[in-house]
Amino acid sequence: MDSSNDIVIDTPMDMHLHFRQGKMMELVAPLSAAHFAGGVIMPNLVPPVDSLERLQAYQKEISSACKNHVFSPYMTLFFRSYTEAELLAVKNKIIGIKLYPAGATTHSDQGVNSIAEAEATISLMQDMGIPLLVHGEDPEGFVLDRETLFLPNYADLANRFPDLKIVMEHITTTGAVSMLDQYENLYATVTLQHLMITLDDVVGGLMKPHLFCKPIAKRPEDKDSLLEAALNAHPKLMFGSDSAPHPIHEKECCGCAAGVFTAPIALPMLVELFHHHNAIDQLQAFVSDTARKVYKIEPTRKKVRLRKETYTIPSQFGNVTPMNAGCEISWKVI
Ligand code: DOR
Ligand code: ZN
Repeated sequence: MDSSNDIVIDTPMDMHLHFRQGKMMELVAPLSAAHFAGGVIMPNLVPPVDSLERLQAYQKEISSACKNHVFSPYMTLFFRSYTEAELLAVKNKIIGIKLYPAGATTHSDQGVNSIAEAEATISLMQDMGIPLLVHGEDPEGFVLDRETLFLPNYADLANRFPDLKIVMEHITTTGAVSMLDQYENLYATVTLQHLMITLDDVVGGLMKPHLFCKPIAKRPEDKDSLLEAALNAHPKLMFGSDSAPHPIHEKECCGCAAGVFTAPIALPMLVELFHHHNAIDQLQAFVSDTARKVYKIEPTRKKVRLRKETYTIPSQFGNVTPMNAGCEISWKVI
């Protein structure tokens, strides 16, 4: 906080983002780029970003959508079996490769059916220093247990590939938080919604499609563990919004798509949350410094200033409804 009572964040980073393509990207990418200095862009397009050619085309589209902002997109490839030559060609253009278990979430049909089938490529990634980002859910398990059932895979990978940097994406459970302290090469991202809500908020009263995502929000004690780690700026936990826009007709329907759209509210709400818990001094690390250290990246620096000013979150941005639409929020990016 500076003398004006504003809060200034140096180079805020969103380490898990869905930008989509086309009109949707034109709508959502500038909203992230206005508040953040950079972010990790997920590859689950249709078809997935799984070649150098598609990666470069996608990056071009992103640069054009963000052209009015200082924003460094960090690209990911969709995990499949890659040859050494393919990885060598793409290595300097990506921050990591994102592994999805097949069927675990939106556009993951081409993910892996078993970790065993992924090992040869994972081993090459370790040799080349390419981080592995993982959607850690066992899609066959009971929905509340899917992350917990996946945790032994993380332990196994961490043990067998000790030089591989593994990022457990969007963790939601106490068990996942404790893995951070058990395995040196495990890191994690956590979303805004998983720091704020439980399953009760999604389905405990009237059903809230705009809070439905994968992995689903869990129990109060899980949320408390995540929040405690974030508020204490755990040195291996990074902010990654997993902002996942879907058009309103795909959310407010029978068979609602998974994804919570938080891009335009994530930073102000993080300030509100950390301020509320008297932890504002830890936010800089959680939303920037830790990520820059973990990934050893140097995005173009940018300071983002927030002022205490109450306003109402719009009910829609284009055809997408944000989390907490219509609610008041007391910090604004200026
Ligand atoms: O809820 C989610 N939505 N979870 C994911 O892992 C993917 C995302 C999406 O792409 O919509
Ligand atoms: Zn995601």
